[in-house]
Amino acid sequence: MLVLGIETSCDETSVSVVRNGTEVLSLETASSLSEFAALGGVVPELAARRQLEWMIPVLGRAIVSSKHTSKDIDAIAVTYTPGLLGSLLVGTTCARALACVWNKPVIPVHHTLGHLSSTWLETTDEPQFPIITLSVSGGHSDIWYRTSHTSGKLIGSTIDDAAGEAFDKGASMLSLPYPGGPHLSKLAGTGNETAYSFTRPLSKEETMNFSFSGLKTSLKYLLRDLKEPITDAIRSNIAASYQLAICYHLVHRITESLTMYPQVKEVHVVGGVSANKRLRSLTEQKCSSVKLRYPQTKYCTDNGAMIAAAGFFMAQEELEVQNTDFVTAAREDLLLTSENRKSK
Ligand code: KG4
Ligand code: ZN
Repeated sequence: MLVLGIETSCDETSVSVVRNGTEVLSLETASSLSEFAALGGVVPELAARRQLEWMIPVLGRAIVSSKHTSKDIDAIAVTYTPGLLGSLLVGTTCARALACVWNKPVIPVHHTLGHLSSTWLETTDEPQFPIITLSVSGGHSDIWYRTSHTSGKLIGSTIDDAAGEAFDKGASMLSLPYPGGPHLSKLAGTGNETAYSFTRPLSKEETMNFSFSGLKTSLKYLLRDLKEPITDAIRSNIAASYQLAICYHLVHRITESLTMYPQVKEVHVVGGVSANKRLRSLTEQKCSSVKLRYPQTKYCTDNGAMIAAAGFFMAQEELEVQNTDFVTAAREDLLLTSENRKSK
């Protein structure tokens, strides 16, 4: 089954053709992120205007480089929520139009289900359920127990900032460019991560949720109250210590969830923040009893291939909506079906 995936939830215009949820035949992405570096964040109106310009050229390139034609495409998967509404409307309008003109089914995909599916892209050994998936990006931080692609339950999610936002806001306080995650991570690479200590969030509460706003405030006060001038070495030490605090909080939730669900066979870490090397090394160190997977780096951040993969798995598990009658929404929760549901 060939699925065309369209992702336009934030600054990217990304289109991909994927066979059977794993084999990526093409992936074309245009991003307006560099325009926003100087502005310190994405300007929704501007992002949507760029996506309007790029949608058709990127779509054309993705189909041509897949070495297939529209006749070979079996379904069109598109991100319908959550994200910037104007941006989502560019992708979903394009998908609806293609569905009508090509007479193909359209599968509306929740953006997070796309991230959850990204670990299947270009894998040769198929992941085995049940799986714990930590999904961490600029927009969400969730931990899931999954019994199939579309079944399972949400174990915890953030009560304030997302992990990616914690990286981005911390980076901004350290005068690094937007989006700060990769820059902070690079700066942290040369620092001493035990130089400063941060209190672990929600450590006194019975919860599996995440919270990052306290870490952000601690960083703000640490910088404000520093007695010495901030040399490059001190900035690196602060970045490394702050990064470690975020990673500890995330990995602690994974180890707790493995205690709750000892039957779990694999742990997956997905989303933009899963590109973070320290998060990966800490997960490897603390979760040595199970198989760990991350998406390839190009599939960590937003891309059309993960949406095509999710659309394929939804179709396989008979969850597709095969018409253009769906609502594009800025915010909607991902609901997995009951954890007893078995994949076909
Ligand atoms: O999944 P994604 O591309 O978009 C959303 O769905 O939000 O994630 C983007 C987020 C940004 O906050 C970015 O700073 C963060 O992922 N990120 C990183 C790294 N690479 C991207 N955070 C920490 N370390 C990285 N290497
Ligand atoms: Zn994302």
